Amino acid sequence: MGKDFPRIGVFDSGIGGLTVLKECFSLAPEAEYFYLGDNARAPYGNREEGEICDFVREALDAFGKIGVDAAVLACNTATAVCIDRMRREFPFPIIGTEPAVLPAAKECKRALILATVRTAQSGRLRRLVQRCPSCRFTVLPCPDLAGEIERAVGEGKGVGRSVHFPSAGDERFEGVVLGCTHYVFFRDEIAAFYGCKTYDGNRGVAVRLVNRLNLGTADHRETRFETQNQNICFEKNLKEMAKGRVHFLGNAKEYNESIFFSNICFNYF
Ligand code: DGL
Repeated sequence: MGKDFPRIGVFDSGIGGLTVLKECFSLAPEAEYFYLGDNARAPYGNREEGEICDFVREALDAFGKIGVDAAVLACNTATAVCIDRMRREFPFPIIGTEPAVLPAAKECKRALILATVRTAQSGRLRRLVQRCPSCRFTVLPCPDLAGEIERAVGEGKGVGRSVHFPSAGDERFEGVVLGCTHYVFFRDEIAAFYGCKTYDGNRGVAVRLVNRLNLGTADHRETRFETQNQNICFEKNLKEMAKGRVHFLGNAKEYNESIFFSNICFNYF
């Protein structure tokens, strides 16, 4: 099969990475994307590290067979647990997703980080926080939230707030860092619950991907940012382009495709 466009593999445990895929595609629609969600084994966030590494390796092996030019770990948990090891094992560049601690620290003195258990416990997150002494961060591990979101989005339901968003007690924050790509689906609800703005790392991932593969031109990127309403996401023509250029793989390919084209494009952004 001929190769007309750069090929990019995007991986997550389930639907969360679709929010990253949308950001990458919006910024670099000239590439061809392969989205692999491991929904049958999601969530990853409470699993043992060795098991997470094995699952991520399987996904990257699949991308290797396709001949990708780069892979995106659209999963904070996978990035926190094993990106360094995977970079040693695979020949293509691997872009990770990390909680948007640095952007939050630039604007806040006091911020909350919501993350899966594995991400919350990781040395990578600890080191990120240590780089930002001007902001006091509270890290709140959420053992159930990604799984609840995986189910709620599939069933077209909202997340029951008091049950699923963990309480931060009486503490008040200026920002909440969404340290898991699943949480981006409920950005507005999370902002309302904690009473402050949210930060996610998705745009940063897309920018790093574009820079790494030297995709696109500054001009068309700037134009798109100016014209794109963040709350709408895809302009219509981008959605049409995505239909031909985004391929879905893995144990839930039809499901992820339908979530991507029904929920991602118009409801949540
Ligand atoms: N969406 C992933 C993350 O960003 C994984 C969540 C999970 O599977 O627990 O952490």
